[in-house]
Parts: sequence; structure tokens; C-alpha cells
Amino acid sequence: MIRLDKFLADMEEGTRQEVKKYIRQGRVFVDGVPAKKPELKIDETKQKVFFDQREIRYRQFEYYMLNKPAGVVSATEDFSDRTVIELIEERRRKDLFPVGRLDKDTEGLLLITNDGALAHRLLSPRHHVDKCYYARVEGIVTGEDKRRFLEGVNIGTQDMPEQTAPGKLEILEVDKQQGTSEILLTIQEGKYHQVKRMFEAAGKKVCYLRRESMGSLTLDKDLKPGQYRRLTDEELKSL
Ligand code: URA
Repeated sequence: MIRLDKFLADMEEGTRQEVKKYIRQGRVFVDGVPAKKPELKIDETKQKVFFDQREIRYRQFEYYMLNKPAGVVSATEDFSDRTVIELIEERRRKDLFPVGRLDKDTEGLLLITNDGALAHRLLSPRHHVDKCYYARVEGIVTGEDKRRFLEGVNIGTQDMPEQTAPGKLEILEVDKQQGTSEILLTIQEGKYHQVKRMFEAAGKKVCYLRRESMGSLTLDKDLKPGQYRRLTDEELKSL
């Protein structure tokens, strides 16, 4: 059950104040009867809501693909920094959250939703969801690094080891003169600063990091950093 004004605001028919006005104006019908009270509780799964003769169906969950820009934090609220949720400028629902975290300086694919069950499935280590990152690295990445990453590396210390699960490293380009490399790394975990720490363990430094994919979801090349769009039905089904 949900309040009629919340139902309409969630479906982006207006702000809470605007939809209250529309309801009082008699423009909203519930099961064929004009509903004049914004606080009317309705069953969003069964009752039929019409606004200006248009049927409004309730979507319980929202799914956005964001190309996270550097400089914003993966949180719902923050005292000092802009959050990824603030980038969703539509009349966004209050219960949206980012699925997992990217560092403040990391760019790329971030799913924003209010579907807790899906988030759990994508993040739970038990489900082994691949996350693929593109990185520019200071240092020459070698076949030896590939082999070490495949075995898993210690990203902790000698005294407090923290072993990663295997990661698949692909070398895209090596610039011997500049001493830099471009790589793709696919991992299934999400330890704190994991990609950066894996390269640190190999004596190299990540200077740019972008997430390219998560499970079946791939970053849309048309989205510039800071842009987002709703997931398509196909993307949602494949998740
Ligand atoms: N690994 C990192 O080091 N940072 C990220 O943001 C994501 C993965």
C-alpha cells in the first residue's frame, strides 16, 4: 500500500507538491473514481490509477546506469562531497543507492537502484560476479604480473596478509619510452582499493581507473562521465 501522492511522484508525474495539487484538482482517478485526497492509500499492485486519462503503472524498482565521473563519492549522502545520487537529476526517488563503491577518483560503470535484492546478488562474493576495470598504470606490466594476478596477490602486509582471489589481467598496450601500460583487469571481489593495491603489490601505480563492466552489464560508450540513463529491458533481464 502506498499514498497516492507518493505513487504519482515516484512515477515522476510531478514533485510531491505538484501531484498533491493535481489530485485536489480532480485530475486523478483510482479505479474509475476521482480521488481528491493525496493521502489516500492505494494498493499499487492491483488498483488502477489514471492521471489526465492516462493510466500510470507503478514501477517498484528503478535502475540507472551511471558513468561515474571522478570527484564524486559513491554514497547516498556526504557532508563535504557531491554524491553519485545527486547526479541523478530526474525527480529521483528517495530510496536510490549505488550498487557497491568506486573510489572518488575512479570513473565508470555504476548501477544506481532501489532494488536491494539485485544489489545483494551483484555484490555478494558467493555469486562471483566479474568486474572488469580499464587502467593506465605507471610501470611496465608484464607476463609475470599476469601470472601473479592469476594466482592471487597479497595486498596486505607481511604481518597482516590479505590475499586476493585470482584476477585476469590483459595487457592492452605498453609504452616503453614513457614507462606506462594500459590494461584490463577482471576480478570478482571488491576489496577496498583492490585494483590499486594489486598493482602496488606488483610495484606499479594506477594513475587512471575506470570500471568497464559488472556481470552482464557493460558501460554504454555514449555516456560521458557524469551522464546516466535507465537500463534497457534487455539489460535488466540479463542481470
Ligand atoms: N579498485 C580500486 O582500487 N578502486 C576502485 O574504485 C575500484 C576497484
